[in-house]
Amino acid sequence: MKGLLFYVLYLIIGSYAEREDLSGKAFTFPKQTATDYVKITLDDKTSLTALTVCLRFFTDLSQEFSIFSMATLTHHNAFLLYKEPSGVYGGHINNLSAKFFGLPVEVNEWISTCMTWNSKNRLIQLWVNGKHSVKKPVGNNAAIHVPAIITLGQEQDSYGGGFNAHQSFVGDITDVHMWDHALSPCQIQNYITHASFSPGNVISWKALEYVKQGSVTVEDIEINTCEKPGLL
Ligand SMILES: *[C@@H]1O[C@H](CO)[C@@H](O)[C@H](O)[C@H]1NC(C)=O
Repeated sequence: MKGLLFYVLYLIIGSYAEREDLSGKAFTFPKQTATDYVKITLDDKTSLTALTVCLRFFTDLSQEFSIFSMATLTHHNAFLLYKEPSGVYGGHINNLSAKFFGLPVEVNEWISTCMTWNSKNRLIQLWVNGKHSVKKPVGNNAAIHVPAIITLGQEQDSYGGGFNAHQSFVGDITDVHMWDHALSPCQIQNYITHASFSPGNVISWKALEYVKQGSVTVEDIEINTCEKPGLL
């Protein structure tokens, strides 16, 4: 009887242990490679007709780099966000692209970014820190068909692979969330300013299932909780 109880407890705890709360932590990508990345898999056989992805990154890269790469079986650039050396940001939905000009390009500070897309109006919009882009049209109103593979640190040129070191990310990435709808401007503002927001309902940084490859590490980044020296 006792054995059975422990077995049931083991099953319950075991199934939760797959998901990790990464609050206060970041993935650190220490070097330019074609082999270091974090992989997140979306298995549900659903169609996504709208999406928002938010994350924060910290880098000193001036070359091109991938910020968020999601591939499906039919589209390697199903949902892609990257930055060009000129400081222009690029977004792809189902292989169709838009470029965003005049957004913040600072290095060596945390950049909070969100990209929204809605198949109804076929528009994507990018938010970077306090600024947002104009809304840009991307192609037809097709949905993104899951299953999908998401890679952080590398840009996919095939489903789950086709990496190129010259498009890799070096630095830290944290607070990755994905929602199956376009967040409102107020909700995005709350994310960007670290006010309270509801975690992603497709991907949540508070319950992330992921696989780490190569020399990627998980590091503490929380600075609000540093111990203050006591008064004497
Ligand atoms: C999307 O782009 C990739 C790479 O260029 C290509 O191999 C793939 O066939 C494209 N998918 C569609 C549906 O056009």
